[in-house]
This record gives sequence, structure tokens and C-alpha cells, in this order.
Amino acid sequence: MLVLGFESSCDETGVALVRVPAPGSSEAPQLLAQALHSQISMHQAYGGVVPELASRDHIRRVIPLTREVLAGAGIALADVDLIAFTQGPGLAGALLVGAGVAVSLAAALEKPTLGIHHLEGHLLSPFLSADAPEFPFVALLVSGGHTQLMRVTEVGQYEILGETIDDAAGEAFDKSAKLLGLPYPGGPHLAKLALGGDPTAFDLPRPLLHSGKPDFSFAGLKTAVLTQVKRLGEAPTDLQKADLAAATQAAIVEVLVKKSMLALKMTGLKRLVVAGGVGANSVLREQLNAACAKRGVRVHYPELSLCTDNGAMIAMAAAMRLQRGMAILPPTGQGAGGFEIKPRWPLGAIS
Ligand code: KG4
Ligand code: ZN
Repeated sequence: MLVLGFESSCDETGVALVRVPAPGSSEAPQLLAQALHSQISMHQAYGGVVPELASRDHIRRVIPLTREVLAGAGIALADVDLIAFTQGPGLAGALLVGAGVAVSLAAALEKPTLGIHHLEGHLLSPFLSADAPEFPFVALLVSGGHTQLMRVTEVGQYEILGETIDDAAGEAFDKSAKLLGLPYPGGPHLAKLALGGDPTAFDLPRPLLHSGKPDFSFAGLKTAVLTQVKRLGEAPTDLQKADLAAATQAAIVEVLVKKSMLALKMTGLKRLVVAGGVGANSVLREQLNAACAKRGVRVHYPELSLCTDNGAMIAMAAAMRLQRGMAILPPTGQGAGGFEIKPRWPLGAIS
């Protein structure tokens, strides 16, 4: 079976085609083609995502990207068996574009659709890498909007062990980067600036580090960074900025690593899966690798290009659901039915 997947929850339009092995087969679904358009340069002038511009750009990109994917895989649209799309959470207008296109195509082709939870897409994205994990595992989900530790027993079985009580890790990167005068999205820019800095040059807080629970709080860190930026005055040197970037990154990474180790200890599991945009951070990867090696834990990451939003993870999540008989498909010929988006949708609600 072939699954066409659409991602349009925020500032990336992603389309991908995945082949699903027969139900019950131990073979993994296979990514045949994918295409992505990032809106980052468009939103950069505004310092963040402008929802209305995001929606309009998704409309412009989604059909050309779909043609590119089908041509790349050498597959005709009529041969697609299931059309998956990000149903939420995300920006309502942006979600509506992916959902609208998916449901319209499905209705025209008389094929079923499947709405996918964006975070489940991130969570299952490491299954697209050469070193795919096996269930069960602890998942550290670190994106722009979410920071959660979960016990993942199977597809759709997600028990939240802990999460952030305020800002997400990606938000902490982005807000601190903005205070340092870096462009949106700040995470990768801050990481680059930090390369030339000394992480011990500033003493920044590690909120909730010793709470004994796998929960997070990053709002205080941003305030501490603001205090340091003010202290440095109008014209900080490049080295001072690099030091502050390195210290900020070190504070976020230390908390993420320590809480991941706590979640592994609590569950007794020996496998960690990292997903979401912040999972691309190389200092986080280095320190997680070291901490996991010490404890005999296997750690898995998505391919670097699949850490941030993409269509492949949505098609993959749909394929894994289909393979397990979890997707309820109306018989061919009945069309796709209505569509619904869920801008606010806790991951726990689908477990
Ligand atoms: O998962 P994602 O693409 O979007 C959401 O679903 O939110 O994550 C985007 C987040 C942004 O906050 C971005 O700054 C952060 O991931 N990010 C990074 C890096 N690459 C992306 N943060 C730190 N280091 C990176 N290399
Ligand atoms: Zn995302």
C-alpha cells in the first residue's frame, strides 16, 4: 500500500510518499520520496511565524511539492491508497491547508484519509533512520512548542512521564537567541554562536534540576539571559555573546540530559529515542550519547534533516498505524468524509 502524507502545521510545507509492507510483516515502511519547503526566510523579517502568511504560503507550495514527490517516486496519484495529513496541534489556518488538500484529493480519488498527530509524527521519525529503534523506549520530545518525556510501549501507547510547566526547550533556545540579537528560528543560530564560547563563563539557572521528577521549566532561564544581556550593555563583544550563547545552551542541555536519565531510571528501560527540532542540537547529542553509554542505554535520533518538521514523519506515522491495523479505513468508493483539524490536541488524548 502507498501512503501520501502532508505536513502543514507551522512554517514548513512537507509532502512524502511511503510504501507500507503487508499488515503483520516485520519489514519497515519505506520512504519513496519527499519534498519540503521551509518558510523560514519569509518569516525572518518579522522575527517569528506570521500565521496568515504561513497559511498562504502552504497554499502556494503544496500542489507543486506533491507533483515533485509523485514524479520522484514514479508513482501516479491514482495509485495512492491512503492520504495522511497533520490534523494538529498547530496553527489553525496552516493546518486547514494540509487538511483541505488531503481531503479534497481523497474525495476525488475515492480514497480514505487519516489525520495524524504532529507529535506522533516527530516521535516515530527515528523509524525512518538506518538505526531504527525497537519498542518499548523512553522518548524525549523536544520541539519548538513541546518538551515531554514519555514511555512509549507501541504505536499509539504514549504515557507522559513529565513535561514542561512553562516554555518548551525550543522556545528557550529561540527566546534567548532573540535576546542575543540572532535571527528566527534562534535554536540553530544560537548553537552556531555557542561554538566559539565558554559554557562556564556565565552562571545560569537550571530550573527544576533537582525536583526528582521528569518535569521541566525554562521560563526562568530566559529571564536570567535577559538580565545578563542588560548587564553586558549596549555593545557586547563577539566573545561575550558567544560565551552567553554557550552558557545558555549548556543550561538547557544539562536539564534535558539529567531528566532523560531520570525517566530511564524510573521506567527501567534501556532505550532512549530523541525527536523534535532541538534533537538536531549537536551538544545535546554528544552529552546524551555520553550519559547513555555510561548506563548501557541505546540512544536513537532521527536523521538530522528529519528532526524539524517534514512530511515524511507524517506519512511514516500513518504507515505504521496502517501496518498495525490501527487505521480505520472506509471501504474504497465511500470517499473521505468530512475533515476536522485540532489546533490544540494533547498527545495523551490519542493513547
Ligand atoms: O520540531 P520543530 O521543527 O517544530 C515544532 O514542532 O515546534 O522544532 C523547531 C524548534 C525551534 O525552536 C528551533 O529553534 C529548534 O527546534 N532547533 C534547534 C536546533 N535546530 C532546530 N535548537 C537547538 N539547536 C539546533 N541545532
Ligand atoms: Zn514539529
